[in-house]
Amino acid sequence: MTEQSPALDNLLTESRTFPPSETFSAQANATADFYAEADADREAFWAKQAERLHWDTKWSQVLDWTNAPFAKWFVGGKLNVAYNCVDRHVADGHGEQVAIHWVGEPGDNRDITYAQLKDEVSKAANAFESLGITSGDRVAIQMPMVPEAIFAMLACARIGAVHSVVFGGFSPTALRSRVDDQAAKIVITTDGQYRRGKAAPMKVNVDEALEGAESVEKVIVVRRTGDEVPITEGRDLWWHELVDGQSAEHAPQAFDSEHPLFILYTSGTTGKPKGILHTSGGYLTQAAYTHHNVFDHKAGEDVYWCTADIGWITGHTYIVYGPLANRTTQVVYEGTPNTPHEGRHWEIVQQHKVSIYYTAPTLIRTFMKWGNEIPQKYDLSSLRVLGSVGEPINPEAWIWYRENVGANSAPIVDTWWQTETGAIMISPLPGVTATKPGSAQKALPGISAKVVDDQGVEVGKGGGGYLVLDKPWPGMLRGIWGDEERFRETYWSRFADQGYYFAGDGAKYDADGDIWLLGRVDDVMNVSGHRISTTEVESALVSHPTVAEAAVVGATDPTTGQGIVAFVILRGNAVDGGEEAVQELRDHVAKEIGPIAKPRQILVVQELPKTRSGKIMRRLLRDVAENRQVGDVTTLADSSVMDLISSGLKSGK
Ligand code: WT7
Repeated sequence: MTEQSPALDNLLTESRTFPPSETFSAQANATADFYAEADADREAFWAKQAERLHWDTKWSQVLDWTNAPFAKWFVGGKLNVAYNCVDRHVADGHGEQVAIHWVGEPGDNRDITYAQLKDEVSKAANAFESLGITSGDRVAIQMPMVPEAIFAMLACARIGAVHSVVFGGFSPTALRSRVDDQAAKIVITTDGQYRRGKAAPMKVNVDEALEGAESVEKVIVVRRTGDEVPITEGRDLWWHELVDGQSAEHAPQAFDSEHPLFILYTSGTTGKPKGILHTSGGYLTQAAYTHHNVFDHKAGEDVYWCTADIGWITGHTYIVYGPLANRTTQVVYEGTPNTPHEGRHWEIVQQHKVSIYYTAPTLIRTFMKWGNEIPQKYDLSSLRVLGSVGEPINPEAWIWYRENVGANSAPIVDTWWQTETGAIMISPLPGVTATKPGSAQKALPGISAKVVDDQGVEVGKGGGGYLVLDKPWPGMLRGIWGDEERFRETYWSRFADQGYYFAGDGAKYDADGDIWLLGRVDDVMNVSGHRISTTEVESALVSHPTVAEAAVVGATDPTTGQGIVAFVILRGNAVDGGEEAVQELRDHVAKEIGPIAKPRQILVVQELPKTRSGKIMRRLLRDVAENRQVGDVTTLADSSVMDLISSGLKSGK
């Protein structure tokens, strides 16, 4: 099995459990019999979940898996995703309910009701159609967390256009490669964005990215910071000029259940990001089902807040599609958690009486660092369910979350899933599961996951291996945009004989058969819950003229989960490896990929450890990066290399 990070060792000795309270269980959406019900007839179970949605035409078959690994869910069914997330709530008499309590970083606010959301989405849909955007066209969106980003996504869904949101922190180079890969016709952005109390540019980066981009016909710019931006005549349009005057009436058309809804790029083991493709009916079914049951959401009563950015899958499924399909009232916050002060999140919870809060372990650990006294200053008594996502949560952070945020009573749901799975797969059910700090525990009813060994044989209780998903699920990816071969190769070749989906995560069963996730087993790092491939950072480094070779590893980091540590060999006559050179390389990576990919540390070395076949042995570099005794070096082509690296580092060379 794969090497295991020492920071995760404590996960495996944790044995506390927290059974649900009777009062919580009595009112919970989920009940224990869901598991048996789903096991008895999975397809009937999912058909029942799909009834949560409005279908213009009902499906004739729940699942078609004959062309595996390409699934079809709710075959023959037709629906409009935006209608499901917006219009039907208005039609049902909930037009006055707030859909979004939007909180801007500088302190401005906007409350948007479902009726207003319907108008905004309809106007945007009319505007996009006026530009000739039709079903199947791709629309790239790079925006901060402003309401228009959500309007734009839903307007695309409404007209059958495929959106592709690119995280606001990604560089022009990263945006351009995504725009080109999908041949986006339209790009939507803002003039600038507020970040840590300051307005930062956005549109100028988009301009840089799009220089010579042939597919792009129009760029739509939302005014946010008011900063002046260059406008390219004939290409650029202001959102307010284009959208505001449109009619608020727009008839939603029903699309096939398998109609593409969005593409979202994520890092793989090679340098090139993968465009993960999601479709409509199955995705929305699982998004709504999981949001309802995992968060115990009650429409019209709860105030929900997912702190993710819409640039990631969590924002897609648990800010936009799941919550809105379930008629949620939610907080959407634009900014960083410590602007203007470290109690900002708790202040928002108190003000809006947030009852369900969903965040990432890296932020929980940051809150811990800021101190217990900060959440204590606020009234957090409205909180009744807490969620975690993005990486394994260490028991210490879990307990801190429970005690300092959840008043020792709110159930914590540790939700495992991926961009590729579309929605939550493994998680406790609040009110049903006795939770364990650090374990995501069980596949949800209707979902099937296993821990298997190298041969694909399921391991027993107490055993460790690879996490696989052994049965298709409604929200599963339908492919990698434009690259069928890579789709088969990445996910379906590792356990091809069994037909299992290979998740890329190590996992283990405890004595009760509960699943504990142990981190990636491939060359993908997890930094603050963001997936970054080692190869991507390596390519960025070697694209710098002074770098001859680079190897990158994810080293355990107390706050971010993993930190990026790079080992570089500089070119013969290049500058020495002094501080300035290293800083320049860090900045170069930020420029190539984005600030989230900036290495925490860059070590200049003379050699890299390689096997006889030339493969870099990252395991050994990770030992160095984590200050551990270097492991077995017998498969190295030159076993003295590690001594050279270690002694070079000690002498500061
Ligand atoms: C990878 C997927 C799903 C939204 C956020 C990340 C890791 C995610 C957990 C969890 C342990 C987790 C896995 C997974 N991961 N949630 N609860 N416990 N690990 O989405 O960028 O597609 O990354 O994040 O390693 O494979 P993503």
